[in-house]
Amino acid sequence: MLNDAKNKGYAVAHFNINNLEWTMYILEQMEKLKRPVILGVSEGAARYMGGFLVVSKMVSSLIETMHITIPVCLHVDHGSSFLVCKEAIDAGFTSVMIDASKYPLEENIKITKEVVSYAHERGISVEAEVGHIGGSEDNVSSTSFNATLEDAMTLYQETQIDAIAPALGSVHGLYKGEPNLDFKVMDEMRQHLPIPMVLHGGTGIEEMKIQKAISCGIAKININTELQIVWSKAVRKFLEENKEAYDPRKIIGSGKEAIQKRITEIVSLFEQNRK
Ligand code: 13P
Repeated sequence: MLNDAKNKGYAVAHFNINNLEWTMYILEQMEKLKRPVILGVSEGAARYMGGFLVVSKMVSSLIETMHITIPVCLHVDHGSSFLVCKEAIDAGFTSVMIDASKYPLEENIKITKEVVSYAHERGISVEAEVGHIGGSEDNVSSTSFNATLEDAMTLYQETQIDAIAPALGSVHGLYKGEPNLDFKVMDEMRQHLPIPMVLHGGTGIEEMKIQKAISCGIAKININTELQIVWSKAVRKFLEENKEAYDPRKIIGSGKEAIQKRITEIVSLFEQNRK
């Protein structure tokens, strides 16, 4: 998926999922658009849904019963250890991100290597992070520090990962002020790294900067907060207008249209300059 995107100058959308309903909304809309999709599952979201096995079976069952024909990647978002990634792979996930970016590079490499070895033997792709992408995700906050070209090259060469998420100014959650992405280093990475790059913290980055990031080698963009915002806004409105509502299916479902509308806009933005 990502190599095709890299070669043709677009980015594959990674949407984080939180529950059955969101997964259905995303799959339905991406099938309508006939675009491949990456369903991202953080450890917190997996726990919330009952664990990696539940999520894996839920997604594979939905693909079957909804007659989904587009490529769907089920991906661990920010797996924090070898054991977490192993559990997800054993449960049927098709891709994992090992995020050992809070450790010094040497330790990051050691942990990432272990995951790559287990994953590649099973045909599973691996994303890893270099530098550290901060902000707020899964109720955990941390401070960012940018990746260097040298560290990104070392991480790739030592581990043979399939995709790399370099911290270059984006953050998870809402930005305080303008996002300040280091396009110079991003473009240098594009020239030196043979693998696709991933942009985390896709929410709140202006369209122009998204385009520029794609032209600098970004082939996967992660979106979480943005869908949460449009969904909760729509649900809040529904509840205000329907004070007597109590059926959870109606309440949760009142955010469906907003999510699907935003997905269409995001996908069209990510593919604007597709060759
Ligand atoms: P946002 O929540 O900022 O969209 O970031 C999502 C993300 O990067 C998931 O890994």
